[in-house]
Amino acid sequence: MKTKVKVTSFLTHILRVVLFTLFLVVNQQLVEANDINLVSLGAKSDGLTDSSSAFTSAWNIACESLNPSKILVPQGRYLVNSALVFNGRNCKNKAISFVISGTLVAPADFQVLGNAGTWFSFDDVTGVSISGGVFDGQGAGLWACKRFGKTCPPGATTIRFSNSMNIVVNGLTSLNSQLYHIDFDGCKEVKVEGVKVSASGASPNTDGIHVQQSTGVTIMNSKIGTGDDCVSIGAGTSNLWIENIDCGPGHGISIGSLGKELNEPGVVNVTVKSCTFVGTENGVRIKSWGRPSNGFVRNVLFQCLTMVNAQNPIIINQNYCPKEKGCPGQVSGVRISDVTYQDIHGTSGTPIAVKFDCSSEYHCTNIKVEDVVLTYRDKPAGSSCINTVGSTLGSIEPNSCF
Ligand SMILES: *[C@@H]1O[C@H](CO)[C@@H](O)[C@H](O)[C@H]1NC(C)=O
Repeated sequence: MKTKVKVTSFLTHILRVVLFTLFLVVNQQLVEANDINLVSLGAKSDGLTDSSSAFTSAWNIACESLNPSKILVPQGRYLVNSALVFNGRNCKNKAISFVISGTLVAPADFQVLGNAGTWFSFDDVTGVSISGGVFDGQGAGLWACKRFGKTCPPGATTIRFSNSMNIVVNGLTSLNSQLYHIDFDGCKEVKVEGVKVSASGASPNTDGIHVQQSTGVTIMNSKIGTGDDCVSIGAGTSNLWIENIDCGPGHGISIGSLGKELNEPGVVNVTVKSCTFVGTENGVRIKSWGRPSNGFVRNVLFQCLTMVNAQNPIIINQNYCPKEKGCPGQVSGVRISDVTYQDIHGTSGTPIAVKFDCSSEYHCTNIKVEDVVLTYRDKPAGSSCINTVGSTLGSIEPNSCF
């Protein structure tokens, strides 16, 4: 009797140990970061085989995991023929990183993605990062189509995050996008660092980084050369920090176009610091449509900027009305105030280096110009003010027009 009890309890003990060990093993796998290799999911690095479905599978696996997951894209060229949508709405995972060593190539035929809106679209995601990689949008065919005035699709933005938070984009290269290169819309807490954007200076609507309806976005240490704005800032942007960007070719860093709509959220708390503009159409610009709007721009600091032959180093234009359609004779309702230009040096590509052309209904107010020295062909450049109220401090060249 006694022995039987002993044997039973011994067996129970063994069973416990086995179960516990099993539990540990399973648990360990859950706790460790999952590495998901795209190649093991069927992606081919030959540049010819469509690897779209491997991305979709990788995303689905990562989303189902409760643990940090890495989606690894090894070296090589991967054709991505589809418009990919990474949706985070039902994602359990709040830490998914794409670690990319390879090059992702869009189809050469622009008709394939031309009406898709976006090539890599991240919607409602939290805690997603993209490190490294080259995204080659192969936009040249579409640009040529647009240039020759043919009937062309609008084209696809290369990477877009919408309604997302805690996003990191680090060390990636975006080449020759059909449309915008990187776009943040409705995002919170975004860090972009060490990014390279490169497209022809003649490519249409290929903005480097576009931010709108977003708060807490930081863009640092990046090099952007493209055919439109290096960074464009749309309505509803707040707490945006831009630092150490090399811009050119391109249209500069632009707040706007704003005020196209009657009801529009404002742009507030923007810092643009330690940036260089080489041969750009503008340096720093604020631009609004000449149309009624309740939009505004407030609390902007442009600091420590170098201009090398920028066409319009400092410009506010509130009379934007492309093709004179839908706005002639109207006045911008966008209120611009508390904008500081501090420590801005270099050369202008046109005789008027500082141009403030504000709304006749809502003058620009509290515009501060401090230590701004810009020359045109080795002579002081000129300045021009319309409807602008401001003040100057320190060495100022061209002379103030306030
Ligand atoms: C703008 O910055 C000020 C000062 O840091 C802060 O108090 C305010 O909340 C910010 N505005 C927005 C809309 O975040």
